Amino acid sequence: MRTTLTAAPAPRAMRDLRRLAGLACTAILLQGCNGGGNNQSIVLGPPAAPAPAPAPAPAPAPQPDAASADANLQATWVEIGDNNAAIARAITSYAAPSADTTADASAVCPQITIDGKVTRMTLRVGAGTMALRTTASDPADSKPSAFPVSACETTLPADAKQAAIGSRTLPMPKAEPQRVLVLADTGCRLKKADKAYQPCNDSTVWPFAPLAATGAGFNPDLVLHIGDYHYRENTCPDDIAGCKDSPWGYGWDTWQADFFKPAAPLLAKAPWIVVRGNHEECARGGQGWIRFLDPRPYSDKHSCNDPANDSTGNYSEPYAVQLGTGSQIIVFDSAKAGKAALATNDPQFIAYQKQFQTVATLAAKPGITTTMFTNHHPILAFAPVAGQTPAPGNLALQSVMSNLNPKAYYPSGVHVALHGHVHDFQALNFATDHPATLVSGNGGDNLDVALPDPLAPGTTPAPDVTVDRITHHASFGFMLMERKASPGVGWTFKAYTVAGKLLATCVQTGRTLACDKTGFLTP
Ligand SMILES: [Fe+2]
Repeated sequence: MRTTLTAAPAPRAMRDLRRLAGLACTAILLQGCNGGGNNQSIVLGPPAAPAPAPAPAPAPAPQPDAASADANLQATWVEIGDNNAAIARAITSYAAPSADTTADASAVCPQITIDGKVTRMTLRVGAGTMALRTTASDPADSKPSAFPVSACETTLPADAKQAAIGSRTLPMPKAEPQRVLVLADTGCRLKKADKAYQPCNDSTVWPFAPLAATGAGFNPDLVLHIGDYHYRENTCPDDIAGCKDSPWGYGWDTWQADFFKPAAPLLAKAPWIVVRGNHEECARGGQGWIRFLDPRPYSDKHSCNDPANDSTGNYSEPYAVQLGTGSQIIVFDSAKAGKAALATNDPQFIAYQKQFQTVATLAAKPGITTTMFTNHHPILAFAPVAGQTPAPGNLALQSVMSNLNPKAYYPSGVHVALHGHVHDFQALNFATDHPATLVSGNGGDNLDVALPDPLAPGTTPAPDVTVDRITHHASFGFMLMERKASPGVGWTFKAYTVAGKLLATCVQTGRTLACDKTGFLTP
């Protein structure tokens, strides 16, 4: 048989042919056999047994993406922002080669896989140490905020079914969330001005980690944190063992210890709605809030890095998150609200007034049967004062709200108000036409004293407001909102201890709240 090759084969085919020709040469010792070069004739002798097909070369193993290595990922989660945008976030300690970051600032970010499609997350803000700014503490008790980590983000498409950052699967938003876990005021207090040094190393007295683990066991579809994530503002004195070696200040190490590490089981379980507390105002944990948690875009002006921009950094526009059919939560940033009523010409009054007008518009959305308003500071609830009549709700917010809606405070479309800030649990139903109000600020920081039980007649959180019933307790815990089964409208609110013991069940109908227990509850 004569085989003549005249065309130039492709390189791979060429190698195979050379191998084949070489085998034939060895077997039949044909003269002129040279292994078959390009454009050379190969003359083969009598038919030989067909040579075995060459084994295909193994496909090269894909290079692991260094930026997506799990060891670099400090935290991953999904949060829900304006217009129900589901924002995937990652905090990474990866430092990309400088050539990569010159070409693409997001080279430091991990890859995200959304329904099988791999892209790289977008850099929100890169690692860096922020120069010392004025803080809530004396300069001697402050330090520059070090963030040796980058924050990355990707907004998930509304129809996304699955997503993962590196090898970490993300919890996806549910179309009809049934259970919403509510918590607030979760950090461990280290504050020199108050001589307050909570034993951060003891989870019985700073129980956020076990609380988050218990809460994750309830399989919530959503988590609502109503503010105050960060409490470790000043150094733990050497002679206090309970907080020994704790990080402090407003940088990443403190955010990691106070929030991201203990919250990890809940961040993995469900998307979050994040509300800003007074501990996240610019002069406190504001830098970390905006880098990591704020659903709004990051910018130099909206960063809390320069006090000159605090009038921007301390405020952000309210927004609504729809919870499936008929329900929504309106999120309001009251981080910088003070304790005193505001004059109508105060810039803060003007800013909040505009924002409450937006709240009214959001609350009037057609098709919504239950609107829940949430902000950190209680408005129509109490702050206990040992041995005294409890303090009323936040006077700054009340002054703005009563100017817009005399006696009513809230616009008519708001049915329920959810708060933190006061470190207890309160559920209030009013005899007057005001939204049912719940406080769930017992998530880990030092508890407040109990409210008087019973409340003295006439005790009120605001003028023109009459309390019908109050249910309250002062133990660590969280709240679970459960959607009423159809055709019911609205939600049931349940107060739990850290260990998951049910303390009270309150059923909401419109603006009313009916709890199965009244007065002070012991666990
Ligand atoms: Fe607070």
